[in-house]
Amino acid sequence: MAYLEQYAVLKEPQNLYEPIEYILGLGGKRLRPILTLMSADIFNCDYKKALDAALSVEIFHNFSLVHDDIMDDAPLRRGNVTVHEKWDVNTGILSGDAMLIMAYQLFEKYDPNMFRSLASLFSKTALEVCEGQQYDVDFETRNDVTIPEYLKMIEYKTAVLVGAAMEMGAIVANASVEDQDRIYSFGRDLGLAFQLQDDYLDAFGNPETFGKQVGGDIIENKKTFLYLKAEELSNDKNKAVLNALFNGTVEDHTSKIETVKAIFKSSGAAEATQREIENYTNKAFLILESLNVSENKKMLLREFGEFLMNRTV
Ligand code: IPE
Ligand code: IPE
Ligand code: MG
Ligand code: MG
Ligand code: MG
Repeated sequence: MAYLEQYAVLKEPQNLYEPIEYILGLGGKRLRPILTLMSADIFNCDYKKALDAALSVEIFHNFSLVHDDIMDDAPLRRGNVTVHEKWDVNTGILSGDAMLIMAYQLFEKYDPNMFRSLASLFSKTALEVCEGQQYDVDFETRNDVTIPEYLKMIEYKTAVLVGAAMEMGAIVANASVEDQDRIYSFGRDLGLAFQLQDDYLDAFGNPETFGKQVGGDIIENKKTFLYLKAEELSNDKNKAVLNALFNGTVEDHTSKIETVKAIFKSSGAAEATQREIENYTNKAFLILESLNVSENKKMLLREFGEFLMNRTV
């Protein structure tokens, strides 16, 4: 992470670069760059060679968060006020754009062949993230979202970037195309588990430590796995309550959140979500079996997956 800190961005004009310094400085789990470096390492490459790719992925991720917080009308990020609230929406848009370009620019550090592979994976992935984000927003005003549609949405908005973060490590390490594909699939499935967990924590996380507004997805009528399962498993009465609360705007957020969370629990949707997180984590672990790397290296990835599954932030 020292590598990120020495990536100085404080230039003129300040109103463009200060928000970038701010959001990058708020930290976060740094999950994606860690996975890029781990991936390079498991394919027997010095992790230092993957530092620019790892940094690129983290800067792209931070760009997506700044724009996501505008789209989700989110007040809090990493326990601090969001960029568009601290400055304004226009500042968030342009600082985000600049970060997207900075992320791309970092691939110039690699030789032409590697640049091409990394940039091509990056472009494909970044476009998918936009598609996922659009589905996420479209679903807010739809009442007929299915679980397969939801899974496709989270694959695009979140999981593909986790997969790509890992594949970039494998590309830098000159791993075989088969191994690149496998590590991508591992990251993607872990990313699906990760987003399911993010949805779960959005409702049931501890407000003291979560760092984001608890209940934000409920306020925004997000069609999460929790919601879709609750619809599926609820009796007619609770189904009607959910439908009414998720149509249009409800003034009293606190009581909406309380009622919806109670239904998420009583319907069994909360438990079903936990099981699904485990399913996708195990699916990811299964892919590890076919990877051409030592058992020790596989252990590291498994431990990381376990750690993610048990996280509270
Ligand atoms: C938040 O990602 C956005 C999602 C895809 C769920 P993280 O939970 O990795 O955010 P930070 O970087 O740790 O703050
Ligand atoms: C975020 O999904 C996906 C991207 C940022 C691309 P969320 O909207 O669930 O992420 P959080 O909960 O705000 O971090
Ligand atoms: Mg959000
Ligand atoms: Mg969002
Ligand atoms: Mg979320």
